[in-house]
This record gives sequence, structure tokens and C-alpha cells, in this order.
Amino acid sequence: MPEVLIFGAGAVGAFYGSLIAKTSTPVSVVCRSNFSAVRDKGFAVTSPQYGSYTWKPTRVFSSAEDAKTANVHWSYIVVTTKALPDVSDDSALLEGLVSDGTAIVLIQNGLGIEDPYIRRFPQATVLSAVTIVSASQPSHGKIAHNRWTRINTGPYLTDTSPASEASHTATSKANEFTDLLVSGGVKDASAYTHQKLQQVRWHKIAINASMNPSSVLANGATNAAMALDTEMSIHLKAVMEEVLTTAPKILGAPFPAEFATSEHIIRSTSKNDSGSRPSMWGDWESGRPMELEVILGNPIRIAKEKGYDMPRMQSLYALLKMAQFNRDKQKGSKL
Ligand SMILES: NC(=O)c1ccc[n+]([C@@H]2O[C@H](COP(=O)([O-])OP(=O)(O)OC[C@H]3O[C@@H](n4cnc5c(N)ncnc54)[C@H](OP(=O)(O)O)[C@@H]3O)[C@@H](O)[C@H]2O)c1
Repeated sequence: MPEVLIFGAGAVGAFYGSLIAKTSTPVSVVCRSNFSAVRDKGFAVTSPQYGSYTWKPTRVFSSAEDAKTANVHWSYIVVTTKALPDVSDDSALLEGLVSDGTAIVLIQNGLGIEDPYIRRFPQATVLSAVTIVSASQPSHGKIAHNRWTRINTGPYLTDTSPASEASHTATSKANEFTDLLVSGGVKDASAYTHQKLQQVRWHKIAINASMNPSSVLANGATNAAMALDTEMSIHLKAVMEEVLTTAPKILGAPFPAEFATSEHIIRSTSKNDSGSRPSMWGDWESGRPMELEVILGNPIRIAKEKGYDMPRMQSLYALLKMAQFNRDKQKGSKL
């Protein structure tokens, strides 16, 4: 029986952890601010798709250090912290938890998120996962799943030749992890190749890097309001196009035909008037760090290394970085 450890059990981690647990697989969690609530009562999950249920994880740890004391061989360590390399290198916290045969599964937004893990654990299997889901943790231990459950998982490889042993192991681990999700009731979980998973990551960047910073700069505009506004939709489409035309040159292959075009993304966003805003707005508003490095900084740097500029992305990055710096400076002066 595999042992699963969710590292950073917030909205995404607790939601997918609770579904994997439906297969009777032992699923443990590393919490932080929600530790006491989860230790005492578990997670209360609400979902239009899965109903309302309580999930009590197999073990609840207050920190990575605490998890080490359990001496469990983890088959999967699923990292669902926010990806904030400018704030902390979370890969360092996994030292002592990763052992022979452990697969590290990164369910996080952004690009280049795998690098710290590959560098620190060159012998370990690293799986990269991208999810389209809408979930939040409105209060400690309460998980609200709103919609979508798409999750694609693929091996993250430094040697992509299919014949390599690392590729073979990581591919079968990605398939096994996907099977766990599907058995837990996630119908739209799929295992992808390294290349296709990176294409999915870049494609999601087109959406996240256009919508998220723009909502912050537009003082909390909803996704639909931005897509319906004439000037804003021109801007969003241009950012998306910048990403969608640069990524194939970097990855050496066109996007698969089934991936949505910028027109399609704008059209479907404008029809979806649920009042939802990108989570980056929530992070900005509540004074938390935003995932700027992995959503804007890393794509710009990766493109630059290959000789491509992304000037619209660069402008958004510069503006948001300074806005965050000034917000935090003011916050500091009020303390
Ligand atoms: N939510 C969504 O709908 C959604 C959709 C698609 C993709 N994503 C992506 O999924 C990732 C996770 O997002 P999320 O919305 O689940 O974030 P979240 O609700 O903030 O969950 C992250 C959790 O990790 C915990 N954490 C952070 N550092 C930790 C540490 N050192 N030790 C233990 N716990 C730690 C946080 O604790 P604290 O509360 O103490 O900070 C929080 O509970 C992000 O990359 C996000 O962009 C999210």
C-alpha cells in the first residue's frame, strides 16, 4: 500500500488528498497555520461534485521536522505549497523525508518550479502536475471546492530519452499517481509525457500571466469583467499571444491542436460571469506574497536564455514586483 504525504495541506493539497484517501490509501498531511484545526477535527470539504464530507488524514504533522519523526517511507510526497522561490526554498524542507523510491509530485502553478527539487534530489523521481481547479480554504480546515478537477501529471526529466531508466521509472510513477486520483473519483486526471506536461504548464502560463497580474493592477477586476472590457481584452489577448507564440519555439514543438486559442480563452472567460477573480488578487489584497517569480519571472528568464523577449510579460513583472515591494514596505512601517 503506498503512503502519501501532502506537504502544504491548503486548498489544493487537502482537496486532492481527501480524494486519494477515498481509495483507502493512507494519506498524511503537513500543515502550518491550520495545524490545530486539522489535528482536532480533520478537513470539512464541500463540493458541488463530491458533496460535503469530513476527511481525517492518517497523520497530521505540524511541520516537515515533525513528519520526519514518524519514520515512514513515503511513496509520494505531494507538494502543494504556493510556489514562492523568492520567499523560501521548500525543497530544503523535504531533506530527510525523501528516500529510495519516493516520488515528489509538484502540484503548483508556474514554470521552473521543478528545478530546486531536481537539483537537491538528483536521484529522486520528480513528477510535475498542473491542475485546473477552483478551490479555497476560507477558514482553517474548511475546504471549498467550487469547480473543475482537471489534473495532468507527467515525469519531469533531465534526460528525456524514453530508453533511460529514470524516464521509465518516472513514467510509471506518473501513471500510478494518476490511477490513484482516478480511483478516488477524479475523472479528468491524465498522465502525460514530460514534453506534453511542459506544454500544459506554458499554456496555463498564458492564462495565469495575463489574467492574474491584470486583475491586481485593475484593482480586483473579475475574470469576466476583464474579458468583456474592450481595452482589457486586447491587452489580455496580446499577453496570451506573446506566451503562446514564444513557448513552441522554446519547447521545439507546436502546441497540440486541442489546446485552446487566446480567442477561445477570452470568449469562454467572458461567458463565465461567476464573479471569480484570480487567486493572485486574494494574495495581494490580504498582504500575502504573490507567485510572481514562477508565473512571470521564470517564463521571462527561460525565454531570454533561448534568445526570446516577452516585453508585455516583462512590463507586468516589473509593475507587480514593485507594487509588492511597496505594499510590504508600507505594511512594515505600520507594524
Ligand atoms: N486554489 C486553487 O484553486 C488553485 C488552482 C490551480 C492551481 N493552484 C496552485 O496550487 C498551489 C497551491 O495553492 P493553494 O490554493 O492550495 O494554496 P493554499 O491554500 O495557500 O495552500 C498552501 C498551503 O501550504 C501551507 N504551507 C506553506 N508553506 C508551508 C510549510 N513550510 N510547511 C507546512 N505547510 C506550508 C500553507 O500554510 P499557511 O496557511 O500557514 O500559509 C497552506 O496551508 C499554488 O501553486 C497555486 O497557484 C491553486
